[in-house]
Amino acid sequence: MGLDYIDMMIIHSPQPWKEVNQSDDRYFEGNLEAWRALTDAYKSGKLRAIGVSNFLKEDIGNMLENAEIKPMVNQVLCHISNTPLALIEYCQSRGIVMEAYSPVAHGEALKNVKIREMASKYGVSVPQLCIRYDLQLNMITLPKTANPEHMAANADIDFEISDADMDVLKNIEHIRDYGEHGFFPVFGGKL
Ligand SMILES: NC(=O)c1ccc[n+]([C@@H]2O[C@H](COP(=O)([O-])OP(=O)(O)OC[C@H]3O[C@@H](n4cnc5c(N)ncnc54)[C@H](OP(=O)(O)O)[C@@H]3O)[C@@H](O)[C@H]2O)c1
Repeated sequence: MGLDYIDMMIIHSPQPWKEVNQSDDRYFEGNLEAWRALTDAYKSGKLRAIGVSNFLKEDIGNMLENAEIKPMVNQVLCHISNTPLALIEYCQSRGIVMEAYSPVAHGEALKNVKIREMASKYGVSVPQLCIRYDLQLNMITLPKTANPEHMAANADIDFEISDADMDVLKNIEHIRDYGEHGFFPVFGGKL
């Protein structure tokens, strides 16, 4: 890659992506072996931070019990209506930074009436509400956009969602249909 070091490298999934959250085999040994390779690269300074993604509580527990260095980050699907609160609390209480991917529900939040109503209440766009929601869960938020205007708006989130409305948003009916992207295993899984 022609780089002296990489900021961060993560294990994408505890299981082969095709069977993520669809098989009972959690590949504990395989994850520890991959983790040893990341740990070596971290110790030699090639990686500045190492972490995991799509790891459930039991997968994290395996690392905490058996690995030399604990994961620094767990990157998980987290958006309004689909918030793995127990997992977030479990990881954060153990010093693991939580990252939220697909914070706008891969675009599906834009179509959700309840989320739109809450965004109107605060005078913000749906993506702004979604990004602010994940930030207020103390998560690093990873929105994606190909539109520079959307990118600027998504960074302009200097408002605060009340505790009561955070509770409402945590309990909004789960978005189950991710439209044409529903075939991705992670959009139909346990996270
Ligand atoms: N670790 C994992 O397993 C995993 C899995 C999935 C995704 N990810 C990562 O998570 C990141 C984001 O995920 P994502 O693409 O699934 O979903 P996302 O950020 O929830 O949603 C992206 C969609 O929202 C739209 N959008 C964003 N801001 C907008 C705005 N201000 N106004 C209108 N539309 C807006 C985008 O369209 P426009 O381009 O038109 O703005 C795009 O269609 C990516 O970097 C991806 O690599 C990680």
